[in-house]
Amino acid sequence: MSGPGQRDFESSSLGTIEHWDSTYEKELEAFKDIGDVGEIWFGEDSQERILDWIEDNEEIKTDDSIIDLGCGNGMLLVELSQRGYSNLTGMDYSAGGIELAKSIAESNNVENIKYEVADLICDDANKKYTCLGHTYKVCVDKGTYDAISLMPSDEIPARQYYLQTLKRLMTDDSLFIITSCNWTQDQLVEFFGSDFQLHDKIKTPSFQFGGKTGNTVTSLIFKLKS
Ligand SMILES: C[S@@+](CC[C@H](N)C(=O)[O-])C[C@H]1O[C@@H](n2cnc3c(N)ncnc32)[C@H](O)[C@@H]1O
Repeated sequence: MSGPGQRDFESSSLGTIEHWDSTYEKELEAFKDIGDVGEIWFGEDSQERILDWIEDNEEIKTDDSIIDLGCGNGMLLVELSQRGYSNLTGMDYSAGGIELAKSIAESNNVENIKYEVADLICDDANKKYTCLGHTYKVCVDKGTYDAISLMPSDEIPARQYYLQTLKRLMTDDSLFIITSCNWTQDQLVEFFGSDFQLHDKIKTPSFQFGGKTGNTVTSLIFKLKS
């Protein structure tokens, strides 16, 4: 299907909680057995670029609140903690993901991250879950909007729920950092543009094909429209 806001890719099991629960169950076992933290989505370089952007941004102080939406194994938060950030929250709808994130943080002696199992796309998410009832200076999403966009059904209402939940986590000063491999910059700006304005872009490697330049991963920063 195509058209404004429509996805031009097929749905997938990556859009289901069953997929993430079974993934994190296996990853937790592997972590306990051999210390493997599991998949770093979009690779370590992508993660590093996000961390560097945060660190280079003078607007973000080390005690500012940062939430990782759909944190999975939580490695981004562990890295932020190790870089001196102290007001960190991780949330994910997979209880197994949160268990894995807590185990990894503990083994790295990182004790200052708050975690909660919470669903971004249910009714009243901001009232239902403690972590979604606050506003944050920085909201990070690496691959979660992508996963939500892959839901086998109802992906458009789900993405609208996501937008509503996100807006309530932000103030005029907040920054939303989204990293996606399914959506292009133009598509992200089109979807989030109703409420957000593009603030910055994290440079990601580009490729050229047939005279056109494209990116495999897109990392954008949005602010609420004033
Ligand atoms: C591609 S993974 C990315 C994980 C992590 N952000 C990273 O970069 O390693 C997508 C994550 O989104 C989470 N997720 C998907 N839908 C969600 C929802 N409705 N609420 C909260 N988390 C969700 C999944 O459980 C999974 O951990």
